[in-house]
Formats: sequence, structure tokens, C-alpha cells
Amino acid sequence: MTDRIVDLRSDTITQPVVAMRMAMASAEVGDDVYGEDPTVRSLEDRIADLLGHESGLFTPSGSMANQLGIRLHVGPGQELIADELAHVLRAEMGAAAVFSGISSRSWSAPRGLLDPADPLRLMQPDAGTYQVSTKAIVVENTHNFGGGTVQPLEAIRTLREATQPLGVAMHLDGARLWNAHVATGIELAAYGQLFDTVSVCLSKGLGAPVGSVLVGSRAHIEEARVWRKRYGGGMRQAGILAAAGLWALDHHIKRLADDHARARAFSEAVATRFPGVIDPAHVETNIVIADVGQAGWPAADFVSVAGERGLRMYAVNETSVRLVWHLDVDDADTAFAAGVMNILLAKASGR
Ligand SMILES: Cc1ncc(COP(=O)(O)O)c(C=O)c1O
Repeated sequence: MTDRIVDLRSDTITQPVVAMRMAMASAEVGDDVYGEDPTVRSLEDRIADLLGHESGLFTPSGSMANQLGIRLHVGPGQELIADELAHVLRAEMGAAAVFSGISSRSWSAPRGLLDPADPLRLMQPDAGTYQVSTKAIVVENTHNFGGGTVQPLEAIRTLREATQPLGVAMHLDGARLWNAHVATGIELAAYGQLFDTVSVCLSKGLGAPVGSVLVGSRAHIEEARVWRKRYGGGMRQAGILAAAGLWALDHHIKRLADDHARARAFSEAVATRFPGVIDPAHVETNIVIADVGQAGWPAADFVSVAGERGLRMYAVNETSVRLVWHLDVDDADTAFAAGVMNILLAKASGR
């Protein structure tokens, strides 16, 4: 037992810092359903600009931003395709099917890494009157359940060039696109311009309490605004929340490099002793997937015993756990996390 708690379950658990709270408290606001909140407008415009799109729409969550984006491209009885670990397929509670009557298929992608040949093989853009037509492809960058994988720009471009002439839209789930940008130095707009719509989250690595933004063409975003209201996502004096996002854009993007460095340091400290559990070459951003099954541990047991020792993480399947670095984790926490991991892995393997 320990008093120390290092919580690596997700980068969504961060506490808003004092300066962010002050920015929220002093935000100029209006009724955003009437389009009268200047702070929301300014966040939407700024993110649209950063991503190389015409317009933006503030949403309460990344799931809503994704689902609005998807429904702009895909109608009832048509399909979206995505890799089998994609958040839109695994963790949005079947929303595309429930709200929009959309069916989906997936391809398998180790670590979530995009190989354009996979969706190109799977899609059927115009399947006639007997099979379901593919209307959109969703790409996730970075890839959450894949372990923070950065999608290669060239792979995305190849996919875009092949699908655009066929009328198959592309939506980017960019909940952690900031991390890809910081890890590679590639401009956000260079990614953004290869998609019809992009969602980004402010409430993950950027440390805001709430909020995502969907960007796209003016016409797409006008339509998404109607659907957001229909989904119950029209918010009133939402500038209080948007102010946190604006503050995060100014102060919390560059520092993501610290999260990446700590995730890498942790992975090296564990891989030195347990090379089969983590491959540091696969730790590109702030997420580490550890195959504790290699050391004889069921993932759920490992999560529970690590939790008793003050280290929180998340079981992604029966044999692997996910650890995510964020704003509220420092070097000492990282060393503590590596220590707990190594002690527990040694217990199972008898080293
Ligand atoms: C890749 C990805 N997309 C979308 C989401 C959804 O965001 P939210 O939890 O705000 O709905 C998440 C959440 O963790 C995510 O990891």
C-alpha cells in the first residue's frame, strides 16, 4: 500500500490549471445557440484556421464531433469503414448505427497503423442495389488503442488521392492530432487538408475540462450545426468552456513533447528488463501499450494489483494494458510508474 497515486488511465483526467480557470472565469460570453458567443466563435475560427478548413463547430465531446462529421458524409443504410481498433467503432457506443442508421466494416491494422491498401481493398464506393455502398473512411491520428501511433502523412495522402475521385469522404478523428503534430513537426493543416472533416479534442492532452471542435467546409459545418442542436449539443454561454480551449492552444501544445519524452523514458526503463512487454520503438507519443501477458499476467489482474500500489492504468484487452502520459504526471511520477511496473512484472516471471 502507498499514499502516492500516479494515474495513467487516460489524458482525459487532468485538472484545469489555475490560469486556465481564470481565463474561463473572465471569458466574454453570449448565447451560442443564437450564434452570439464571441469566445466560442473565436475558438471555432482559430481551430478551423489551424487545420486549413473554412469553418469550425464547438461540441461538448469528441464523440459528438466524430458522429456529426460521419453523418455529414454517410446516410442511413450506407457504410463507413475504419480500422478495427478505431475509437468511432469501439468506443462510441454504436452511435453511427443508433443515431444515423449507418453500417460499418473494419480492417485489421496492427497498432492502428494506416496502410492505405487496407481501406482501398475493403471499400465499395458504389455497390449498386445489392450491397452496401461505402461513403466514408475514418482515420484516427494519433491512434488511441493502437498505442499513440502517428499516421504517416504519405499514407494518408495516398488514400486521399485514390478515394477523392470516387466520392468516398475522409473524416479524421484527430482527438490527439496535437500529439502527432508535436511528434513529427508536421503542420496541423498539412494533415487537416487531406480530410473533408476533422475532429480535435481540447479535453485530452491539452488539459481543458470539456470540448472538441469539428472543422470542415462552410456548408458542412452549417449542416452539422443543425444536427448538433438536434442531438442536444447546442450550448448557451459556452464561451466559459471555449476560453479553456483557447488558453490550452496558447500554453499546452508544445509541452506535449514532455509527455512523449516521459512515455519514452518509462518504456525504456521497462523494456530494458522486459523487452517482450514493451517495444520502445512503438512509443511515438504519450501512450504506451504494455503486453503484460508476456510476463504471465492477465491484464485485469495487473491493473488491480498495480492500483493497490498506487499506479493506475487501463486494460485494453485480456493481456495488454494502456498507460497515458499527461499534464499531471512529472518525471518523479514516471520513475515511480516504471518502478511499480518492473516489480510486478518480475513477480510473475520470477526474475
Ligand atoms: C481517438 C479518440 N477519439 C474520440 C474520443 C472521444 O472523445 P470524448 O470522450 O470527448 O467523447 C476519444 C476519447 O478518448 C479518443 O481517444
